[in-house]
Amino acid sequence: MAQKTALITGASSGIGAAFARTAAARGYDLILVARRQERLEALAEECRKAHGVDTEVLAADLAKPEDVAQLVKKIAGLPSLELLVNNAGFGTTGHFADVDLDKHLDMLQVHVTATMRFTHAALEGMIARRKGGIVNVSSLSAFLAMPNAVTYCATKMWLVTFSQALAKELAGTGVHVQVLCPGFTYTEFHDTPEFAKFKRTDVSTGLWMPAADVVNESMAALEADRVVCIPGRKNRLLMALNRSPLGPLLVWMLARKRYE
Ligand SMILES: NC(=O)c1ccc[n+]([C@@H]2O[C@H](COP(=O)([O-])OP(=O)(O)OC[C@H]3O[C@@H](n4cnc5c(N)ncnc54)[C@H](OP(=O)(O)O)[C@@H]3O)[C@@H](O)[C@H]2O)c1
Repeated sequence: MAQKTALITGASSGIGAAFARTAAARGYDLILVARRQERLEALAEECRKAHGVDTEVLAADLAKPEDVAQLVKKIAGLPSLELLVNNAGFGTTGHFADVDLDKHLDMLQVHVTATMRFTHAALEGMIARRKGGIVNVSSLSAFLAMPNAVTYCATKMWLVTFSQALAKELAGTGVHVQVLCPGFTYTEFHDTPEFAKFKRTDVSTGLWMPAADVVNESMAALEADRVVCIPGRKNRLLMALNRSPLGPLLVWMLARKRYE
């Protein structure tokens, strides 16, 4: 079987780790990127043992331009990159003006600049080989414009528009782009100090999804060449509600609690 490689950012936990396990099970060699090297190495060993794939671990902080630049070189030189998952991300809580500006700028770097640069670096080879998939992990928050998550919602909306427009340009090239917009997902996203006061029980259990289910829906949507993937029936219903006259009420309900 021809070699195929998946590069996944933010693979040290949550949705990224689930992408790594799923891609390995489908025979992809893995390049795993995040800051926590030990976590990546443990996951790489697990995937090697379970599926016999090759793995490489690259510790990188995507808020640092020099780390992103190194990865760009790496991606541009990969001869068999078939799947790029721009998944690394984080949230903040509190009003825009109260959150340290450096956090907003780091978020812009991780969610937007790194995604743009990695996608640009991957495309030349993918287009030449007429084969490839790029998954940009956004969020339902992209569509909600919520207070207390201003830069988060804005950067996630950038990912939606970027992916939708790029997918149109790439029609017929054999390269597929998806923007994945999960809702509440069981991961470490809400375990950071910013969310110390957040309780998962504040959100109805029925709205939470396991990361593996999110990834299974994403991979199925990629195969079906569906550009916007909102995993979970309840999340799709929420988005229908958001488009209705009840949309502002939904945003108020989701954003009414402040966790800072
Ligand atoms: N969980 C949810 O409810 C939810 C909902 C919608 C969208 N999402 C999105 O899903 C994506 C994955 O998040 P998750 O839910 O799986 O949360 P998670 O378990 O906290 O995973 C986030 C991943 O991003 C990496 N990361 C964060 N900052 C980074 C940086 N500066 N440089 C490199 N890697 C960085 C983390 O690795 P290190 O800490 O090791 O660097 C980790 O692997 C994010 O883009 C998030 O916005 C999550």
